[in-house]
Amino acid sequence: MDLETFAPGSGRLEPRAALRSDAPALDLNGLWRFRLSPVADVPDDFARPGFDDSAWAELPVPAHWPLHGHGAPAYTNVSYPFPVDPPHVPDENPTGDYRRAFDLPDGWSGGRLRFEGVDSFARVWLNGHELGFSTGSRLPVEFDAGPWLRPGRNVLAVRVHQWSAASYLEDQDMWWLPGIFRDVTLTRSAADVFVHASHDGRLSFEAAEGRLSIPELGVRDLEPGVEITVGAEPWTAETPRLYEAVLTMPYETVRLRVGFRTVSIQDGVLLANGRPLLLKGVNRHEFHPLHGRAVPYETMREDVLLMKRHNVNAVRTSHYPPHPDFLDLCDELGLWVVDECDLETHGFGQVGWRRNPTDDPRWAEALLDRMRRMVERDKNHPSVIMWSLGNEAGVGRNLAVMADWTRERDPSRPLHYEGDWSCANTDVYSRMYASHAEVEAIGRGEEDPLDDPELDARRRAMPFLQCEYAHAMGNGPGGLAEYQELFERHPRLAGGFVWEWIDHGLAHPRHEYAYGGDYGEPLHDANFVIDGLVFPDRTPSPGLLDLKKVFEPVRFEFGDGVLRVLNRYDFRDLAHLAFRAVVEADGTPVAEFPLEVPPAGGEIELPALPPAEGTAGEHWLTVRAVLATDQPWAPAGHELAWTQTPLAPPAPPAPEPTRLPATPESRDGRLVLGGGEFDARTGRLLSLFGLDVEGPRLDLYRAPTDNDRYGGLDRQWRGLGLRRLTHRVDGVETGDGLTVRVRVAPAATDLGMRVAYTWTATSDDTLNLTVDVEPDGEWPGPIPRLGVHLTLPGEIAHVTWYGRGPGEAYPDTGMAARVGRWTATIDDLQTPYVYPQENGHRADVRWAEFGGPTGTPGFKVAGDPVFGLTARRWSTAELAAARHRPDLVAGDRVHLHLDLAQQGIGTATCGPGTLPRYDLHPAPATLRLRFTPA
Ligand code: GAL
Repeated sequence: MDLETFAPGSGRLEPRAALRSDAPALDLNGLWRFRLSPVADVPDDFARPGFDDSAWAELPVPAHWPLHGHGAPAYTNVSYPFPVDPPHVPDENPTGDYRRAFDLPDGWSGGRLRFEGVDSFARVWLNGHELGFSTGSRLPVEFDAGPWLRPGRNVLAVRVHQWSAASYLEDQDMWWLPGIFRDVTLTRSAADVFVHASHDGRLSFEAAEGRLSIPELGVRDLEPGVEITVGAEPWTAETPRLYEAVLTMPYETVRLRVGFRTVSIQDGVLLANGRPLLLKGVNRHEFHPLHGRAVPYETMREDVLLMKRHNVNAVRTSHYPPHPDFLDLCDELGLWVVDECDLETHGFGQVGWRRNPTDDPRWAEALLDRMRRMVERDKNHPSVIMWSLGNEAGVGRNLAVMADWTRERDPSRPLHYEGDWSCANTDVYSRMYASHAEVEAIGRGEEDPLDDPELDARRRAMPFLQCEYAHAMGNGPGGLAEYQELFERHPRLAGGFVWEWIDHGLAHPRHEYAYGGDYGEPLHDANFVIDGLVFPDRTPSPGLLDLKKVFEPVRFEFGDGVLRVLNRYDFRDLAHLAFRAVVEADGTPVAEFPLEVPPAGGEIELPALPPAEGTAGEHWLTVRAVLATDQPWAPAGHELAWTQTPLAPPAPPAPEPTRLPATPESRDGRLVLGGGEFDARTGRLLSLFGLDVEGPRLDLYRAPTDNDRYGGLDRQWRGLGLRRLTHRVDGVETGDGLTVRVRVAPAATDLGMRVAYTWTATSDDTLNLTVDVEPDGEWPGPIPRLGVHLTLPGEIAHVTWYGRGPGEAYPDTGMAARVGRWTATIDDLQTPYVYPQENGHRADVRWAEFGGPTGTPGFKVAGDPVFGLTARRWSTAELAAARHRPDLVAGDRVHLHLDLAQQGIGTATCGPGTLPRYDLHPAPATLRLRFTPA
């Protein structure tokens, strides 16, 4: 049966370029008739034109049927959701039959039926005649419709099987989503062309016939195979200059946009147009929370705009060629693209790579077919600078088959493939999730040698890139800045692509966003599909904001009265930017002025700046680089980069009032000290300036982040019992204040923390707290947090703080958070990770003021010098127990965490954990806080 053949298809036409032609075309998208069967073996009488489909459902094309009520999506990462027994597939094989009638306009003759993408196996009939079958879900296919078209009404029938032999080649980490999910057309275009345009102005093209004109460059009727040189501006992702070209052929005219650019490798450095190229990239899957991989055009555009606005300059089309319109957008708006073939056989890794198609000659034709269809379709895009043979498909002979053909067909683009570290078939050395230390070694050319000296020498001469790094799953990724520093330091390092662009959370009536297991899949990989820089609705997560900061195209360094400006663009100067400076005193602007932009970078002298002699408060100078004029991807004023520097050392704390320290007064079993009331026996704080509070108590735990869970740290923390600390009061001492000594420890261990909470008051409206912590016993480090937890009445609704913001920050994240005065509601402080986890921590907070509706007593807490702030309407235990956003329900208390420190975030979900300098090891520590009424 064809379903289990190694052949990629039958009856198909040769692949050709995606082109805009004036040849007549019929759009066959829209509502089709549809019927789903649970097995493949169903009569194919539905292909007859006269078949009665009136009882069938209707289904839009393009779309995935499981997202329209037929069957259900399923998610696995590496595992095949069927037995690994190639080329066989299960009897349970969801099979969608599609029918659509269309009317041919008068005078129409001939044409090709073109499918841009069918997942996964399609057999096609026109007016009852079988045209053939095809596989290769994310690749176009054309069938000759000419002989079978009839004047007037025609009937197209397509049978789509979810599983076929080809499914073994499509084991990408994503939802399994069958259906005709890209456009269908009947076109009379047959043109193909391959334009060659290099940055030095050389221009030629290959085509069977036709003449090429580029009016803007004075090129008229160029013949195929003839090379000329023109005076064209080069294309780069920073300056995406395109020229409109017209290819005139006897039966049609084709329009395309030509970009002049050259990719090369010299002395182990990746070059574009002869200059070093640093890829600041992301991995992009096609995804929409309602439509799966049938991504609307506007959404593709939104992706490109969002990337550009966040200083991303490159995209790897993980792990298949995207919709062709996406590449047009990359040409037009400017992104470097690694175009990846629709090939992954990762699940064979789970059976020791036995019978891996990559190394089985019977699959050679299928693998080559995929490569050819990608290269032929996308060969005219200046944005495409590398071809990738696929992802995680192991090693084997068929890689050479793909690579050899591609080199011959298109010698102008380097080849990429990560799965074979010998790099036998590639031009660049690519890895995923290598640690900082390893990347550094490679940058220096000091990587471990390969066994084969010849291959080793070849690889040592290659540029290096991380096709995946900084796994953006949940809270994180940590370590971005440190990677970027390495990429910028070593010329061999060509940068990389963060994993990944978007959380693949499918819209779900109960869970808001679904991940693996939410559709009852017997085998799944849970929330491993929720690992993006943007949430499913494309709201940027804190990780994307950090990435924007790390990728910024201008760097600033403050010197003595000067600001040094470094141009981090590879190809353009800074003339399109404006610099805006502001001085703030304790977060309030006191001076604003523009700074001149040195187009090539350099030093600018700073004017005399506040603080004026004797002015109190912290003064900060912030300089922002914004777009001076509108760009096609962002309006004037859009911020690209910023920096801050303190102008004067923080003023010493205001002198304490000279009144004598207060001693606690005893009233009805309570101790009253300053604005606080305490339980006389336990020393527990009962009320603060009239506000009913619980705590503060030492806290060592956080709701695990994905990185804490997958990296194994949370297992240790649970093992230690950090989630269930007990608090034993050892002493309550009064004098010039109140000292409460407590031993905090989990059950079943002799490890603990000795804590002294010392309260003093200098007046009725100041209450100072010093928390001294001393580990008792040999703690195995690190621990998630060190701080205090208290709860407040639910009326507390908003907070204003002076510290870093507006977003969250952890020791190795939060580069996007700057010092300032910020205000947010408690609800807005939450980062809505699709899989709930620790989030929302504001760093380096000098003070925070809490309030509610009029009448609610508010208060202010100040650090000495700073603390970490988290406030939420649920407890850590509730946050840790939640599995989806709607599981988090506001309770009647606000949980406030005031932290001295937190453990870093890292990217241990996939890749290295936290760098050692961001580990939080238990050690004697002191947290100082001052409470005043607001
Ligand atoms: C890589 C793989 C990606 C994704 C990632 C983890 O190994 O190439 O597709 O699975 O790991 O999210």
